[in-house]
Amino acid sequence: MGSRRVFSGIQPTADSFHLGNYLGAVRQWVDLQESRDAIYCVVNMHAMTVPYDPLTLRRRTRVAAAQLLGAGLDPERCILFAQSQVPEHAQLSWVLGCLTGFGEANRMTQFKDKSARGGSEQASVGLFTYPILQAADILLYQADEVPVGEDQRQHLELSRTLAQRFNHRFGQTFVVPAPYILSAVSKITDLQDPTAKMSKSSSPPQGIVDLLDEPDVIRRKIARAVTDAGTEVRADEDAKPGVTNLLRIYSALSGSPVEEIAASYATSGYGTFKKDLGELVADTFAPIRERTAKYLADPDALDAVLMDGARRARQISRETMAVVRARCGLPPVA
Ligand code: TYM
Repeated sequence: MGSRRVFSGIQPTADSFHLGNYLGAVRQWVDLQESRDAIYCVVNMHAMTVPYDPLTLRRRTRVAAAQLLGAGLDPERCILFAQSQVPEHAQLSWVLGCLTGFGEANRMTQFKDKSARGGSEQASVGLFTYPILQAADILLYQADEVPVGEDQRQHLELSRTLAQRFNHRFGQTFVVPAPYILSAVSKITDLQDPTAKMSKSSSPPQGIVDLLDEPDVIRRKIARAVTDAGTEVRADEDAKPGVTNLLRIYSALSGSPVEEIAASYATSGYGTFKKDLGELVADTFAPIRERTAKYLADPDALDAVLMDGARRARQISRETMAVVRARCGLPPVA
């Protein structure tokens, strides 16, 4: 052991992850299992913070796990489980909630956005305390680093604050986690609105490339992506946000620098560039889609992977919670 620990989570709120999830998070998760002590979680309790259907949630939890395995997570190299299988997440969330100011929680921009979208009277208390449960996820495992996209930065800042506050008040207990955010892929934008984040909850279907989309659908969506005035393939965040987003995607998937890609399409215009990018995305996702289908064909085996991961996760989380209880003045659990 002795290697740095990473922890991250993803919500099972759709029938497929999308290109933003993949490039911003999942791909790093796969890479990091080689060099880190890696723990990954399908955060199904977070998915309960907005109205949901139980059968759909159950299905999507499996679909999420299957996609993560399909993308390359290996239970021999990492721990993969579903949040609800480890009761310590909810337990630590309560403790941390008692250390969080109401105003502090009220400043979380994701809560403001999500509650505004559904009408703030409709928003649940669970949606309000969402970032506290997220802090519990991370702190339970004493994670050093948390691989996520840019949209999670504020939540990670709260996790750090809560770790420091607990340590200060009750004695050194938690590692203060650092964000692991790769700027080139940290905010993949909506294909139809390159100023907005590609988002499962707010982008239109045409603005999102799903990991499980058929190759033809992927090619078509990329071909129809909004590009900018002019014809020149060039990275320019302000003047050409659409082309810049596509260049970043191309670069992340091909491993070539943005400038090199732009130079190679200098004379061919947007059409050829988008056609090639469509191929690249379709070719990257096709094997993931096939492997995901294989995992989904055997739900018992999939459940067994999650259960085994949960057992391993609990060995760590139980220890953390025992220390937390002692520090907080709570007697041991029965
Ligand atoms: P979620 O499920 O919304 O998204 C999963 C991951 O995908 C990243 N992401 C993106 N990255 C780049 N460009 C995009 N357009 C894009 N859209 C999404 C997200 O940043 C995230 O890393 N609150 C978290 C889930 C969570 C969690 C945790 C994460 C719960 N507990 C503990 C880390 C640690 C979320 O909603 O992710």
